[in-house]
Amino acid sequence: MLVSAKEMLEKAKAGHYAVGQFNINNLEWTKAILLTAQENKSPVILGVSEGAGKYMGGYTTVVGMVNGMLKELGITVPVALHLDHGSYEHCYKCIEAGFSSVMFDGSHYPIEENVEKTKELVKVCKDKGLSLEAEVGSIGGEEDGVVGMGECADPQECKAIADLGVTMLAAGIGNIHGKYPDNWAGLSFETLDNIQKLTGDMPLVLHGGTGIPAEMIQKAISLGVAKINVNTECQLSFAEATRKYIEAGKDKEGKGFDPRKLLAPGFEAIKATVKEKMELFGSIGKA
Ligand code: 13P
Repeated sequence: MLVSAKEMLEKAKAGHYAVGQFNINNLEWTKAILLTAQENKSPVILGVSEGAGKYMGGYTTVVGMVNGMLKELGITVPVALHLDHGSYEHCYKCIEAGFSSVMFDGSHYPIEENVEKTKELVKVCKDKGLSLEAEVGSIGGEEDGVVGMGECADPQECKAIADLGVTMLAAGIGNIHGKYPDNWAGLSFETLDNIQKLTGDMPLVLHGGTGIPAEMIQKAISLGVAKINVNTECQLSFAEATRKYIEAGKDKEGKGFDPRKLLAPGFEAIKATVKEKMELFGSIGKA
């Protein structure tokens, strides 16, 4: 059964580790992530962007696939199914479809409007026992065609949103979706520290988990980050494994490009990437 992310994140924050949010894009990714979480006794959050939801055949299809896998694969570790960077409207669509967690990304609205809309969703999610992530200060880079400039959030604005009763808070601290450019300034730990001081026990979320050096990840966790999102790194390892398989010309007998064979190396590559991240985040054995 899908669970809200509340309990797993509160435990992570108190225990000084982070739960990984791994975005899913198809059946193979979903199965690889769920099996890796189960094998390593780790809680996990499956992230679904609006674009990925559409690609997979709609939110109801995603809920059906994930619930089916939890049952058929015997997954017993805590799993949350979470809308990633949702618009206000899509939060309601996912709640309706059976997601156990949603992110409302109101970071592009003026803070008053972000507060108003987040407040509405806090009520709805509380009533239904779902977890809610809010965002302050946009995350840099590009995701699903949405380009953010990357900025450091204002700690007072973070406090205003945290006080509304959200479950977790994503705050921009110089992090970027996708690969980091060579001239990246790094994470602003000063901003993170100020946010954590004002938001207390609130689990903080670090987006753009791909390519952040291990020491920075560990420092971020020590300053209150309890959820870290990863997408691009899974895309890269999946693509690289698939490319190698195709280049090896495994279809000689005309059978090697059976999709089940074609996608098998990518499936294994995602499992390895997810396990590596779970080790780095410290979530192994915590379920
Ligand atoms: P990356 O694609 O950089 O791993 O970021 C993922 C993310 O933050 C999803 O919200």
